[in-house]
Amino acid sequence: MGIDGVKGIGDMKIAEIRNLSYSYRENCGQKKAVLNVSFDIDEGECLGLIGESGSGKSTIGSLIGNFLTGYEGSIHLMSNEKELADMSKKERHDLYRDIQVVFQNPWQSFPPNMCVGEGIAEGIRYYGRGLASDQKKLKEKVLETMHLVGLSASYYQKKCRELSGGECQRAAIGRAIIRSPKLLICDEVTSALDVSIQAQIMQLLFSLKKEMGMAMLFISHDLALVGGICDRVCVLHDGQLVEELPGGREMYEKAEHPYTRLLMKSVLDII
Ligand SMILES: Nc1ncnc2c1ncn2[C@@H]1O[C@H](COP(=O)(O)OP(=O)(O)OP(=O)(O)O)[C@@H](O)[C@H]1O
Ligand SMILES: [Mg+2]
Repeated sequence: MGIDGVKGIGDMKIAEIRNLSYSYRENCGQKKAVLNVSFDIDEGECLGLIGESGSGKSTIGSLIGNFLTGYEGSIHLMSNEKELADMSKKERHDLYRDIQVVFQNPWQSFPPNMCVGEGIAEGIRYYGRGLASDQKKLKEKVLETMHLVGLSASYYQKKCRELSGGECQRAAIGRAIIRSPKLLICDEVTSALDVSIQAQIMQLLFSLKKEMGMAMLFISHDLALVGGICDRVCVLHDGQLVEELPGGREMYEKAEHPYTRLLMKSVLDII
């Protein structure tokens, strides 16, 4: 909570990333994907990560989401004193109760053969305890979450593969937010969707951020989307962080780095 009990940016460091570097192993050597990147995410803050294809955005998301190991530098999450790589399996399991990831392809975040209700409930069942043992309350919570992401109760028994991309992405977001995570990592969550559905999903994320006060790492190559939803924006180029900007209109006004200006110019040229 921020000042006067208002949910907002503030009291806890959700992520402290310092000098993060990562290389993929390739047949003939190593591919440096992330180089010496440092940034913070505050409680309730939406941090945007932009950059052209191959600039290292997803790699950073995957490192923070614990899908990749073997990095250099440090990742501290939820104001934990322990660095991520030094944590035990149990400590990491507990930590990731509060961190969820939604990918570009909704079927990557939501098992395609699972019913919507069941898949969203799994977001709680996986961590056991509490609601997981009370079937009635669990179903109520699932229906409440479905309502929040704009899926009516009639979707409860539908299999995710029977849904449209936009509907399935809503289900994937529901599965990720049912436990009210403190950090939601969104990796190109609207890229596979058509423009009108994209706008609905962005509206949904924006209202979830406001209502639940969760922090977000919003990864996208779409400048307009990032500027619209993010409080702060980090620009990546060839794995390096080249500029940090405020979100909104100021993002366009304050950009100084030649690469950022080039990114912006290419968007404005299309418009
Ligand atoms: N599994 C992998 N093995 C080897 N190299 C990889 C692997 N995944 C990504 N890379 C390389 O690492 C670099 C960063 O990739 P990454 O996926 O993080 O970029 P990105 O900014 O998310 O791109 P996009 O906008 O296309 O999603 C790229 O050069 C990419 O080719
Ligand atoms: Mg990517």
